[in-house]
Amino acid sequence: MKRLKILEFPDKRLRRVSEAITTFDRGLKRLSDNMLMTMYEEKGIGLAAPQVNKPVRLIVMDISEDRDQPLVFVNPVVSSFEGKVESNEGCLSVPDIKTDIKRHETITLNAQNLKGTAISLEADGLLSICIQHEIDHLNGKLFIDYISDIKLQRLRKKVAKQNKAARIERQKNTRLI
Ligand code: NI
Repeated sequence: MKRLKILEFPDKRLRRVSEAITTFDRGLKRLSDNMLMTMYEEKGIGLAAPQVNKPVRLIVMDISEDRDQPLVFVNPVVSSFEGKVESNEGCLSVPDIKTDIKRHETITLNAQNLKGTAISLEADGLLSICIQHEIDHLNGKLFIDYISDIKLQRLRKKVAKQNKAARIERQKNTRLI
């Protein structure tokens, strides 16, 4: 398995609309294995193929406490939804920024597995939020698109300040030899 490089905002490649998957071969399995490994190593709970520069409709996730229940969805589509829920989101492609986002509370997901078999499931809570976040990636959309430019600028300034403070702290601890 291979750890993949994650594209970061504002990389334009994150804005592409991903292609449907029609071939269910070993290459697809390998990509999903590599994506899961990358997600675990980066301590994320979800990852979409376009984030690793593969513009195809494949998402992986694991929302379990013990990080031992990987989920893989090919060509995922939300077919129905109900209710609203707000939660704090972050993204491996948008380092350090976290903000509250409103999503559908309960969704019905239609997708395929790695063999091409159709699957359908109802999701709520974190799973529902994560699926919606990852499907957005397949459509070139990022969670920060839901907030205003002013709010995003404010968040980026805050992060820059925190990073600067951390840098100064690190320098203080550097021994001169
Ligand atoms: Ni993300």
